[in-house]
Amino acid sequence: MKQIPAPFKVIYDTDPGVDDAIALYFALAHPAIDLMGITTTFGNVTVEQAAANALYLTALAGRHVPVTKGVQKPWVRDGEAPPAHIHGADGLGNLPSRTITTAAPDPRSSAQFIVDMARAHPGEITLVAVGPLGNLALALKLEPALPVLLREVIVMGGTVLEPGNVSPVAEANIWNDPHAADKVFTAGCKLTMVGLDVTHRVVTELTLFDRIARHHAHPATDTLHHAVKFYSTFYTGLHKHMEQTPGCYAHDLLAFVYLVAPGLFALETGAIRVATEGLALGQTILNRRPYIRYPHPGWGQDVPDTRVCMAVDSHGCLRLFEDTMLSGWLKR
Ligand code: BDR
Ligand code: CA
Repeated sequence: MKQIPAPFKVIYDTDPGVDDAIALYFALAHPAIDLMGITTTFGNVTVEQAAANALYLTALAGRHVPVTKGVQKPWVRDGEAPPAHIHGADGLGNLPSRTITTAAPDPRSSAQFIVDMARAHPGEITLVAVGPLGNLALALKLEPALPVLLREVIVMGGTVLEPGNVSPVAEANIWNDPHAADKVFTAGCKLTMVGLDVTHRVVTELTLFDRIARHHAHPATDTLHHAVKFYSTFYTGLHKHMEQTPGCYAHDLLAFVYLVAPGLFALETGAIRVATEGLALGQTILNRRPYIRYPHPGWGQDVPDTRVCMAVDSHGCLRLFEDTMLSGWLKR
């Protein structure tokens, strides 16, 4: 008899955020993902709002998952106002009302929760990190053995060849806390970067979320539908190619798609460093010629390799997303 592999034990480090919400519901819907906890951070919203949104979204879907609050600001640089014009002031497209009084967060910090779970399940936890990387940077300080205790870290963030989305070279999550990101990229975790090189290749059209909401007729998917309509207005106004068929980039979703279907991606491997000052602030610089030994400080052999997603089967991703979201994951 064919053995069904055990699901991936996952901690989701997130700043919900509309695309974070899309990714969360995909994770809850996919049978190969066992969501052990949601560790929140500042980013698209304040950390308080991020935790409230994680609790609200899981409650709407009828799930209980521990939710923690993490870092409130970048490690070194000054914080910036959350991008309310992209995700809404509440991070979920300005919901007209909220129906459920949600459970309270777990009292531990996000970093402590990551450390506790990694120690309790050595070699088993995958951390899917889709916000600024302060929680993981702090967890690495609390537990230096974390790189070997974690099974894998999958980061949505950064870009190599694709232009940035907050500066010509920087992606938002890395820009928001470049010092934390550089600590993560140099820590020695088994690390995969899912950045704009692939997330900008996959447009999730609004009609897809119309179909999901109609299919389930459930408060969870109605809420997602509302949030995505708001978020898509931003993208449709920004990108000419989305004018005819409104939609959005569901960046964070692709980190989970990579986890369950890595064959949909083409990878490159090499050392990454993050620019922490100057015009290139937040740039993820990949050494694409690992056979060259650059004699400059910061590029020595001690910088560990990161696997970087450079190309993606867009249709495969969209098919997997739609099939998963239309499955019977929501209880009545
Ligand atoms: C990333 O930035 C955030 O606004 C999104 O949620 C995503 O994690 C895309 O650059
Ligand atoms: Ca995010």
